[in-house]
Order: sequence, then structure tokens, then C-alpha cells
Amino acid sequence: MKLVFYGAGNMAHAIFTGIVNSKVIDSDKIYLTNRSNEVALKAYADELGVNYSYDDAALLKDADYVFLGTKPYDFDSLAERIKPHINEKNKFISIMAGLPISYIKDKLETSNPIARTMPNTNAQVGHSVTGISFSNNFGAKSKEEVDDLINAFGSAIEVSEDNLHQVTAITGSGPAFLYHVFEQYVTAGTRLGLEKSQVEESIRNLIIGTSKMIERSELSMEQLRKNITSKGGTTQSGLNALAEHDIEGIFEDCLRAAVNRSIELSNQDND
Ligand SMILES: NC(=O)c1ccc[n+]([C@@H]2O[C@H](COP(=O)([O-])OP(=O)(O)OC[C@H]3O[C@@H](n4cnc5c(N)ncnc54)[C@H](OP(=O)(O)O)[C@@H]3O)[C@@H](O)[C@H]2O)c1
Repeated sequence: MKLVFYGAGNMAHAIFTGIVNSKVIDSDKIYLTNRSNEVALKAYADELGVNYSYDDAALLKDADYVFLGTKPYDFDSLAERIKPHINEKNKFISIMAGLPISYIKDKLETSNPIARTMPNTNAQVGHSVTGISFSNNFGAKSKEEVDDLINAFGSAIEVSEDNLHQVTAITGSGPAFLYHVFEQYVTAGTRLGLEKSQVEESIRNLIIGTSKMIERSELSMEQLRKNITSKGGTTQSGLNALAEHDIEGIFEDCLRAAVNRSIELSNQDND
């Protein structure tokens, strides 16, 4: 299987590094290209054993999967660049936020299969939750291959294209929402009188430990919480104070605002 990455920026880097490290395919079957930053391509080639080139005809020849990894606003120029060289073997995997499959198809002037994905920044540590939708002509075996590629840098969740807006909100923007909650926890912690650096370090380790508990345990988050909440104890008192606020409603507002913005942006991109 041959993979080509058009765009080797932050997100593509996380993805091809995950694929190389997982050994799902050999690194010499991976080809990178970008607009002009050859220094970056050479560094990745030296580090990971992947190839790079600016010869589009050679890149697309025999390419099974072609990752589209530019910023959405650079895609029109990328499409102009590659469309003369597309052949029937090429299947496309977009990581560009907001661009519908129909838009990509029109700009590439192709009826080849196209997958649209929404990864998140945790791809850098092999833990992206990636939403994915496929064009109708994506075969079952190809879907499995794409799933294997995506699992190399986290986990995949297949949804309809319309539901990618929800995925964008919940897991695409999700790391930022959780960082924000952690920040508030640190600020509140420092108000109790400890040194800020001590609180930050403790909470960093608290978050890592709690994530590992979630990862390793078969229990639901609710059960994990209940297991450490004794009647009349300190945890119960803190939870009672939280229950005075509509935490669920706050997060619902946050996620709905992100969904609405995702819809707005994808409408703007395609005007
Ligand atoms: N970062 C995230 O957390 C995240 C999450 C989900 C989705 N995404 C999506 O990932 C995509 C990439 O984001 P990023 O943060 O990785 O961007 P980035 O770091 O700016 O990288 C963009 C890449 O595209 C290349 N490029 C631009 N025009 C090109 C062209 N005509 N032909 C070939 N390559 C071209 C650039 O090459 P040069 O360096 O040579 O200019 C660069 O390698 C975006 O569409 C974004 O929506 C990102």
C-alpha cells in the first residue's frame, strides 16, 4: 500500500508519525509533499525513513491513499495542482476541517472514493479520536484499510457527514474545553493557599492518573466516581457544592455553540 501526504504540517505530521510508529505499513511506502518547505520534508525523511517529492505525477502513480492535509483555504490551489495527475487507484482522505466531500470531489474533478475525517490534536500522542465519513463508493475493504490507518494514531468513529459537526465539537475542540476546565481547577486550587507551581504540578499528575484509571478500568466514569465518594465525606461535600450549579447545561451550551460555529464555517467555506 502506498500513502501520499499532501501537506506535512502539524496535523499531518502527527498522523504519519503514528502510522510509521505503529508499523501498519512500512515507512518507505509513505510519501510526503508540501507547498515549498523542503527543509521540513527532509527532516521527516531523515527521522522516519519516509520519502518526499514534488513530482505530482510520480507521487500519485500507484498511490492507494492520498491524504489532503493543507489548511482548508489552501485546498483550491492544491486541487489545481493535483487534478491533472489523479488516476483511478487514488482514494482520498481529507483531514481538512469544514470542507464537504462534495466540495472536494468538485474541485478535484474526480469520482474516486473520498473519506472526510476530523482528527484532534491528541494524534500527537497516538490518542486522536477521529470522526470519519465515507463517500458512497468507498468499498468495505478500503474502509477497513482506512480504519487501520486511523487506529494507528488513536481511534476511529464512523458517522454520517452531517454528524461530523458534533464530532468537531465533542472531540475536535474537546481537548481545549478540557484544558480550560483544568485551568479553572488550578486557579481554584491556588485560592486555597498552596503555591501555584505546587498546585499545577499536583493537578497535572492528578489528570494523568485519572485518565489512566479511566483507560485501565472496566467501570463507567459514574461508578469510578461513586467508588471514591463516601456518604458524608469530603468528596460528597464537594460534589454537593457542584450540584448547586448546572454543570451539564454549561457543557451543553459550550458544545452547541461549537456545533453551530462548525456549521457556519462550513457554509462560509463553500460560498
Ligand atoms: N491542528 C489541529 O488540531 C487540527 C485538528 C483537526 C483538523 N485539522 C486540519 O488539519 C489541516 C492542516 O492543519 P495544520 O495545523 O496541520 O496546518 P499547517 O501546520 O499550517 O500545515 C499545512 C501544510 O499544508 C501545506 N500546503 C499548503 N498549500 C499546499 C499546496 N498547494 N500543496 C501542498 N501542500 C500545501 C503546507 O506546506 P508548506 O509548509 O510548504 O507551506 C503545510 O505542510 C487543516 O485543514 C485543519 O483543518 C487540524
